[in-house]
Amino acid sequence: MSKITFEIDGKECTGKAGQTIVEAARDNGIYIPVLCWYEGMKPAGICRICTVRVGGRFMAACTTPVAEGMIVENEIPELEDMRKAIVEMLFVEGNHMCPTCEKSGNCELQALGYRYGLMAPRFPYLFPKRKMDATYTKIMIDTNRCVQCRRCVRGIVTKDGKHIFSMTNRSGHSTIVADPQLESKMSDELAKKAMDQCPVGAILKKEVGFAVPIGKRKYDVTPIGSEIQK
Ligand code: FES
Repeated sequence: MSKITFEIDGKECTGKAGQTIVEAARDNGIYIPVLCWYEGMKPAGICRICTVRVGGRFMAACTTPVAEGMIVENEIPELEDMRKAIVEMLFVEGNHMCPTCEKSGNCELQALGYRYGLMAPRFPYLFPKRKMDATYTKIMIDTNRCVQCRRCVRGIVTKDGKHIFSMTNRSGHSTIVADPQLESKMSDELAKKAMDQCPVGAILKKEVGFAVPIGKRKYDVTPIGSEIQK
């Protein structure tokens, strides 16, 4: 694979042909925040939290391939404020009650909130009326917390390639549902994968609760991105 030389925030980086900016940045120890992107899954460019500036234009770093001589701006105040605004919008658009969420401390949205020093959002809370669906066999879906990243829709499939999750409704009512028949046959491993792959607490595996106490979970201990940043 041919080597590509490019720059992120003045740091000389190398990448491989076919890599996206997010992937190449990670290989060079540079963190670009992501929400809908998930390692090993085809990027979809949905959430735009990974937006960087390339040659004066805003691009999604998770879908844009690196190119020779590319100059990427990442951690600049303008972009960091836009990312913070996206996190704020996601918080006010749903009902995220972190202290009572099983995903607290393992939640990427919460961790990004900490990263960007979220206090009072600049947007008004919408307090939508949303459902918590515990009628499934292996999982619960709390649509209050869904950020519509579609990681579950794209990445949770049965052995014979059937997608268990899909989107339902439109606009502000758009959220995820699971096919009840396929869901009831999910293995414990797949149900756990669905919970882990969800960046927030919208998909929770039943019969799992507080195995690790709040305060000792992944992002309670190390801030998001610190595992990548060199
Ligand atoms: Fe790139 Fe969501 S992570 S658009």
